[in-house]
Amino acid sequence: MEQYIIKGGKALHGEVTIGGAKNAALGILSAAIMADDTVTVENLPDIGDINVLLQAIEKIGAKVERIDKHSVKINGSNINSMSIDYEFIRKIRASYYLLGALLGKYKKAQVALPGGCNIGSRPIDQHIKGFEALGASVKIEHGMIQAEAEELKGNHIYLDIASVGATINIMMAACLADGITIIENSAKEPHVVDAANFLNSMGASIKGAGTDVIRIKGVKSLSGSEYAIIPDQIEAGTFMFAAAATKGDVLIKNVIPKHLEAITAKLNEIGASVEEYDDAVRVIAAGRLGHTHVKTLPYPGFPTDMQPQMTAALTTSEGTSIVTETMFENRLKYVDELSRMGADIKVEGNSAVIVGVKGLTGAIVSAPDLRAGAALVIAGLVAEGFTVVEQVEYIERGYENFERKMQGLGATMAKIDIEDEKAVQKFKLKVS
Ligand code: EPZ
Repeated sequence: MEQYIIKGGKALHGEVTIGGAKNAALGILSAAIMADDTVTVENLPDIGDINVLLQAIEKIGAKVERIDKHSVKINGSNINSMSIDYEFIRKIRASYYLLGALLGKYKKAQVALPGGCNIGSRPIDQHIKGFEALGASVKIEHGMIQAEAEELKGNHIYLDIASVGATINIMMAACLADGITIIENSAKEPHVVDAANFLNSMGASIKGAGTDVIRIKGVKSLSGSEYAIIPDQIEAGTFMFAAAATKGDVLIKNVIPKHLEAITAKLNEIGASVEEYDDAVRVIAAGRLGHTHVKTLPYPGFPTDMQPQMTAALTTSEGTSIVTETMFENRLKYVDELSRMGADIKVEGNSAVIVGVKGLTGAIVSAPDLRAGAALVIAGLVAEGFTVVEQVEYIERGYENFERKMQGLGATMAKIDIEDEKAVQKFKLKVS
């Protein structure tokens, strides 16, 4: 296994280009099987989660043709199974999007019930509520969700929680239902809008995506399309916080600044400066960052997927900050790893109280999940000395070429097997 090894203390400078949005691509690739034509999807991130979902799509008989590592052609005309193996949902929860896609297209679907994950229990009751409202009967037996319907009829669905996954899943099933479906309290994230725009490009009739009421007029069938995924708001935000935390100056290209507004506002508030361009943002931080209070909220609030990166940046800021996680019950576990690097953080309920320290010191730390892993890298970039981040496979599920992009910004960082003493010595010699 390989780990990241980082020698901290250097400000990041230069330019980095952001890839396609993981959380848009997972919904869009699932929806792509709903046509019996070829769908071309471009600007895909080349990351673990995407590659696993493409394997799941191929396993049920869809034709998947990789044009290059960022583009794929999918044709769902030869799908011969409506059942998604447990192995896929175990690897990526978002395989559950195939439930909405298969139910919408074939009125039948079976997907393993996703378990919890490191950040929380992650129930899918709202997804099921939506499918049942459309007329499907949903059973959970032997760890499998079986959804089936004679026909799907449009309905008025009130989500109890503005769930991203439930909104996208129900939207897919409703596209091919008879009549009108209205989803109230729908999630408004950019990736929900991207999924809706993609479905409309296939001939669906969805209005209101990006607001909390989405109206879907069922159509008879969906057709082929060519579509490019939006830039990844969370990858962009991660580099924005890395630039600010290291007191650097970084131009982050291929972004939609509007999607980053909550992140930009917080960075400006703590003393970084963010310049917005048409499809780029520049983050500059000269001095020590200030403190703030932040609460994670559904879009357009501050994203839960940026919470660990924010906390990492605040560990060395001036004063005391409070970061409150409202979306997931177990998304502060990484705090203990930051404490091992000298951070002064106490978790009280679902809030982290962070007393800024002058500096962090490098240590061996372990990534408990995708975004916390990215946060530990940010802390390692700031810390004095060497940091080793273990479990990088979590990070690579959601970030393409993460260490290479950081190296491109001047980070002293490599991915090596730290059991390989020679490789470690070689890295340390090269950087000292
Ligand atoms: C999506 O997860 C993202 N994943 C998550 O990103 C992101 O953190 C989350 O949205 C919130 O923005 C993908 O898009 C693949 P939710 P999702 O349904 O859809 C509760 C990352 O780092 N809930 O909006 O699962 C749920 O427990 C990942 O890229 C129910 O109670 O999130 C949570 O508390 C991590 N019942 C809240 O709603 C349900 O049926 C929001 O979850 C569904 C959700």
